[in-house]
Amino acid sequence: MEQKSPFYSRPQSEGRIYFIETFGCQMNVRDSETAAGLLETLGFYRGTDKENADLILFNTCCVRDHAEKRVFGNIGALKELKDENPNLIIGVFGCMMQQQEVAEKLYKRFPFVDIVFGTNLLSRLPAFVESAESGSRTLAVDEQNIQIEDDLPSIRTGKINAFVNINYGCDNFCTYCIVPYVRGRERSREMAAIAEEAKTLVDEGYSEITLLGQNVNSYGKDLKDASFAKLLALISKVEGLERIRFMTSHPKDLTDEMIDAMASLSNVCHHVHLPMQSGSNEILKQMNRKYTRELYLKIVEKLHAAMPDVELTTDIIVGFPGETEEDFLQTLDLVERVGFASAFTFKYSPRKGTRAATMEEQVPDIVKRERLHRLNELQEQKSRENNEKYIGVTGIVHIEDCDTRHDPVCYGKFPNFKMVYFAGTPDLVGSYVPVQITNVRKNSLFGRIAETEETSI
Ligand code: 5AD
Ligand code: SF4
Repeated sequence: MEQKSPFYSRPQSEGRIYFIETFGCQMNVRDSETAAGLLETLGFYRGTDKENADLILFNTCCVRDHAEKRVFGNIGALKELKDENPNLIIGVFGCMMQQQEVAEKLYKRFPFVDIVFGTNLLSRLPAFVESAESGSRTLAVDEQNIQIEDDLPSIRTGKINAFVNINYGCDNFCTYCIVPYVRGRERSREMAAIAEEAKTLVDEGYSEITLLGQNVNSYGKDLKDASFAKLLALISKVEGLERIRFMTSHPKDLTDEMIDAMASLSNVCHHVHLPMQSGSNEILKQMNRKYTRELYLKIVEKLHAAMPDVELTTDIIVGFPGETEEDFLQTLDLVERVGFASAFTFKYSPRKGTRAATMEEQVPDIVKRERLHRLNELQEQKSRENNEKYIGVTGIVHIEDCDTRHDPVCYGKFPNFKMVYFAGTPDLVGSYVPVQITNVRKNSLFGRIAETEETSI
């Protein structure tokens, strides 16, 4: 089954070049695809580096870490390019710029930046660029009206997988999280519009999509007669769609109906990204997560019972305010019990404006660091154990790419998200190939193309 994405067929071009650097999550990647679509309608072409660009856009994130420091550092470094090429247009947008105070600070500190705007004003990018071309600077933040339009042009960057937004924003207000403040209230797209987009993507050559939302499981709560399970059922009927992925799932909204849909619809992939955040009931309460470790384990059990090949990945925060050694041991215990395929692990970092940032009993950084280290060691061991069960297993890999600098090595994923490496040739990219696992390393599975189409997962 040969599948080529449109990414390959776009002509190489001359003319004005744009370069977009994206920080943060898949939602930001998708927004950058929209920014690219808007720029291409203005006649810009995609470039591969900042040095040769006529327009540089930074799509920022403010969810964790010292994002602000890093972004300010990166922007500062662009001054040299602007000095060399005064016609260079520089723009900064994204979640971080959705915060008025931060956007103003950046706008003042870097007079060579032409455009600063919040994500919700993405549709106005062409007008901002036109102003910059005529010599005026723009600072545009609208914290109130968080609206993102659906039908904007976009240029997909995924070679074999296309991101599809299903709901925007978040209503959960986990106490550590800035997202509800910068992405606004939850809004679901209509089921029919999503199905239509999926059909168009198939026509364009994609056979795998990832449905995106901060919390896909609460999709449809603002619509009539819609739910995530119903959406999966509808999308799964799109002819030519071989694989449907989704992220992220909030445990409190993961219903039996949705597990049944996942298990019974043959093109819905058996992978759930299910952030647990903490294994301590007290910390989960302080985080406003609205589930307990017992409920989390129950969901995990149900998922395994319905889909023996399901893989789970997760997000975990260590050092949330008030987290004791005892609480942390509960987190390690839950990680031990669940056996995640992989985990994104973070030190808690206070976000201005969130409830947790003002909580007393902030945990010292040295303690956070030490806990993160212990957690990562345990997860590494669990990932290795998880990998070992794949020796001898054959599954279908959707080939993402082939690295010709090495053997050549092709890679792609099993339906359940496990990444597989094997010897193959670049012409295989985009196709579905049975691969049998022969050996495993810490983070990866290695195999060879199998003779048979018979698969065990
Ligand atoms: N500090 C650390 N990690 C955070 N995350 C969100 N906010 C914070 C924060 N303030 C993590 C959560 C979430 C993931 C996307 O980022 O684990 O699931
Ligand atoms: Fe943030 Fe919680 Fe919403 Fe996820 S569910 S985006 S962690 S508030």
